[in-house]
Amino acid sequence: MGVYGERVLPHIVDLTCGMASNARHRQRVCAGLTGEVVEIGFGSGHNVPHYPAAVTSVDAIEPAGTGWRLAGKRLAASPVRVRRAGLDGQVLPFADDSFDSALSTWTLCTIPDPAAALRELRRVLRPGGQLHFVEHGLAPDADVQRWQHRFEPVQKRLFGGCHLTREVLPMLRAAGFDVVESEAFYEPKAPRFLAAETIGVAVSP
Ligand SMILES: C[S@@+](CC[C@H](N)C(=O)[O-])C[C@H]1O[C@@H](n2cnc3c(N)ncnc32)[C@H](O)[C@@H]1O
Repeated sequence: MGVYGERVLPHIVDLTCGMASNARHRQRVCAGLTGEVVEIGFGSGHNVPHYPAAVTSVDAIEPAGTGWRLAGKRLAASPVRVRRAGLDGQVLPFADDSFDSALSTWTLCTIPDPAAALRELRRVLRPGGQLHFVEHGLAPDADVQRWQHRFEPVQKRLFGGCHLTREVLPMLRAAGFDVVESEAFYEPKAPRFLAAETIGVAVSP
């Protein structure tokens, strides 16, 4: 990871992901998490204040040390034990069947090989374990998709490999998850090509 990725981008991610408008999605996506949780692409910990009381611990996976440091205040205020357990969601340092729940918020867009990350989540989730997700991806409308394809090379350069055209539900299903809840929506007040979101829950059978 270069200087931009390690020192600059985590501050930009902290500001953009920390926008107040995201808080209601974080509250919703974290509801129902239980027990031992693995969170991939932890960033600067904006989900931490939303972990429900049923969460006993969180193992955070985040490559950017600056992101982890920016999470400091949120971590200090949290009753949940959170540890930085790894650097790469594509290769999780855990035994099979280690976790009750998993969390991914606006991360599958950025991980270089999201299929590998989802395979790993399935491996480390106990049978019946739930992955809670909110992700942006390919829009349902063709005119928006055209803008997403045009802008994606710029987005990838500016935001550390962030893609605009990944298909969230097909990726989950291809990894063997059962999607048991999902809702697609455009985040209001943002250009639609940046704001095609899917929130939901997928179960590892
Ligand atoms: C758009 S940010 C989202 C951060 C956070 N999930 C949130 O909701 O605020 C994407 C995050 O994925 C992280 N990331 C990039 N590559 C990764 C990888 N291979 N494994 C795990 N996380 C990764 C980035 O460092 C960044 O923190």
